[in-house]
Amino acid sequence: MPLVGPKEMFARAYKEGYAVGAFNVNNMEIIQGIMQAGAEENAPLILQVSAGARKYAGQTYIVKLIEAGLMLSDLPVVLHLDHGADFQICKDCIDGGFTSVMIDGSHLPFEENIAITKKVVDYAHDHGVWVEAELGRLAGVEEDVQAEHSIYTDPDQAVEFVERSGCDSLAIAIGTSHGAYKFSGEPKLDFDRLDVISKRLPGYPLVLHGASSVPQEFVEMANAYGGKVAGAQGVPEALLRKAAASGVCKINIDTDIRLAMTASIRKHLVEHPENFDPRGYLTPARQAVKDMVRRKIATVLGCSGKA
Ligand code: G3H
Ligand code: 13P
Ligand code: ZN
Repeated sequence: MPLVGPKEMFARAYKEGYAVGAFNVNNMEIIQGIMQAGAEENAPLILQVSAGARKYAGQTYIVKLIEAGLMLSDLPVVLHLDHGADFQICKDCIDGGFTSVMIDGSHLPFEENIAITKKVVDYAHDHGVWVEAELGRLAGVEEDVQAEHSIYTDPDQAVEFVERSGCDSLAIAIGTSHGAYKFSGEPKLDFDRLDVISKRLPGYPLVLHGASSVPQEFVEMANAYGGKVAGAQGVPEALLRKAAASGVCKINIDTDIRLAMTASIRKHLVEHPENFDPRGYLTPARQAVKDMVRRKIATVLGCSGKA
C-alpha cells in the first residue's frame, strides 16, 4: 500500500477517541520493529523523521526502507517530518515523498510563527501534503538544544494561529517535555487547558509531543547492565490515555524507542561478551522495539484494529 496522509486517520481517531502513535525512526531495525508491531496490532502508524535522523541515515535510505516495509504490508502509514526548522527542510521532505511535515516555529514570536507556518502550508497544500505546526514551548532536549522552561499554549492564540496559518494540526504545550527526564516531582498535565483548546477548536486534531512514558523496566535494565540513566521519568500512561480521549490525535514517542533498544543491546553485550556479530544484539533490540510499540498501541493509544 502506498503512503497515506493523516486526514482520514485523524478524523477517525478524533471521532472514536483514540490517538495514532507517531514513532521516530532512525534505522532499519527501528522501522522494522515499529512496522511489525503495527501489522500485528492492525494499527495505523505515523513514522516520523527528525533532522537528526535525516542526517544520520540519509533521507533516501529512510524513505526507501519504509517503502520496502510497505511492500510487505497493507497498513496505512504516514511519513512525517518531525520538527522541521525552516521552509527548506519542509520543502525537501515534501518534494521527497513525505505525506506530512511539521514546521516548528514555536521558538519564534507569534507573528513570525504564523508567517513561516503559512508559507509551508501554501507549498504543502499545493502538493497535497499535511502540515503540523506548534504553538507554545516544551521544556527538555530537542536537537541538542535544551529549553529550561515550558510556555503553555494559550487557547485564544491557538484559535487565531490555526485560522491565520491554515495549519492542519497543532502541537500544544500542556506540561510534557522531550527526553527521559520529564518531571522532577509529581507528573501532571494541564488537562483544563487541553479541554479549553479542544472545545475552542472542535473536530481539530491536536498533537502531543514529548509523550514517552519512560517505562521503568527499561530504565532498570539499562542501569543493571552498565547504563547511567538515573531519575528518568516519563508521562504516566493513564495521562496519555486521557489525552488520547480529549482531542489529541497524534502522540509522539521517541525516547521509549531509544531506551528499549539501548537497554536490550546493553543486556545482550553483557551476557554475551564473546559476541561481535551485530545481528546478535540487533535482533533482540528490534524485538524490544516491537514489543514496546505493540504495548503502546494496545494499552496507551487505543488504536489496535483501527488500520
Ligand atoms: O523531538 C525530538 C525527537 O525526539 C527527535 O530527536 O532530533 O535527536 O532525532 P533527534
Ligand atoms: P519523547 O522524547 O517523549 O519521546 O518525545 C518525542 C517527540 O516529541 C518527537 O517529536
Ligand atoms: Zn517533539
